[in-house]
Amino acid sequence: MSMDGVLRLYFGESNLPTPEYIKQAAWRAMEDGYTFYTENAGLPSTRRAIADYYHRIHAVTLDPATEIVVTASGVQALYVGVRCAIDPGDEAIILTPVWPNATSMVMMANGTVKQIPHPLCDHRYRVDFDALEAAITPRTRLLVYTSPSNPLGWVATSEEQDGLLELARRHGLWLMADEVYDRLYYESAELGQPAPSILKKATREDAVMVAHSFSKSYCMTGWRLGYLIARHDLARKATQLNEFIVSHAPSFTQKAGETAMAEGEDELLRMLERLRDNRQLCLDSLRGLSGITVPSPAGAFYLFPRIDGLTDSFAFCKRLLEETRVGLAPGVAFGAGGEGSVRICYAAERSILEPALERFAKFLNAGA
Ligand SMILES: Cc1ncc(COP(=O)(O)O)c(C=O)c1O
Repeated sequence: MSMDGVLRLYFGESNLPTPEYIKQAAWRAMEDGYTFYTENAGLPSTRRAIADYYHRIHAVTLDPATEIVVTASGVQALYVGVRCAIDPGDEAIILTPVWPNATSMVMMANGTVKQIPHPLCDHRYRVDFDALEAAITPRTRLLVYTSPSNPLGWVATSEEQDGLLELARRHGLWLMADEVYDRLYYESAELGQPAPSILKKATREDAVMVAHSFSKSYCMTGWRLGYLIARHDLARKATQLNEFIVSHAPSFTQKAGETAMAEGEDELLRMLERLRDNRQLCLDSLRGLSGITVPSPAGAFYLFPRIDGLTDSFAFCKRLLEETRVGLAPGVAFGAGGEGSVRICYAAERSILEPALERFAKFLNAGA
């Protein structure tokens, strides 16, 4: 972190600042007196705004009073969700490679995790339903998946969503979908349409929860704002739990989030166009290298190339950093199935991305 001159592609964020209209909204909210405590579930106006947004973007109807909990980040949405589902000794199944926080959260709740890797077949990651079925025991309470996925870019197909929902129903599990990257999706008929949410398939009575964030769609990583959508009983518990963790997300941040959802589409579209171009640039560059397998990601802003013969991605990334000043995330950090790959975040500016790809290619060609 303290090394100078590093081309940093290891974090999950772009170097675009938060758009001005969102900053102005936070300032206005402070001027308007949004500097006090709010409800633990979030301001009623913010929950209504989320329900309106969800209806507009996903065509899903939510009850803002009972099914939405505003949280101080996507991380916190996952955390309250996990804590509500897992008692000590319970088991969770997590589809990997994946951003590792949910795994740690289950362990913090004194639960245990079974990681089930996504197999790569015919250039697409898939869900190994046989392995999922075999991993379920009487102590299993929770099944977690991330779509669009960090780090894979995998997006669950309609059939995969059906399969996951059916499995969760049949075994009485909570199904947690991390959909924080839902707006960063490249395979819709029209750019800007979201990756399909599991909530389009779930009924109100299904044991389903969905974690969301403002970080990725609106360049608001430092603001710490997200939300959990869940069945009313879990949402009520999560609201109570919020009190003892942070009580609620900051009040003026919630108001700024309302503005982001109401006015953010044009800016989001511009960012998506840029990300789609960056994704293509990286794919073209990596596919020109021998010994690399890189499926085309349908969503999020990562590539997860597999490097032939790589057995220690941590040592590889350390050497890449020291010798070329390019910072990537080692695949091993993302759990089962991650070793042998590296994660590249392509949300950076071209002035960083292009030299980083060049140096990475040279490093590999030199027989790293
Ligand atoms: C898959 C996934 N879920 C959740 C988050 C949490 O985002 P935040 O806590 O910034 O809202 C991240 C952030 O990188 C992520 O990659």
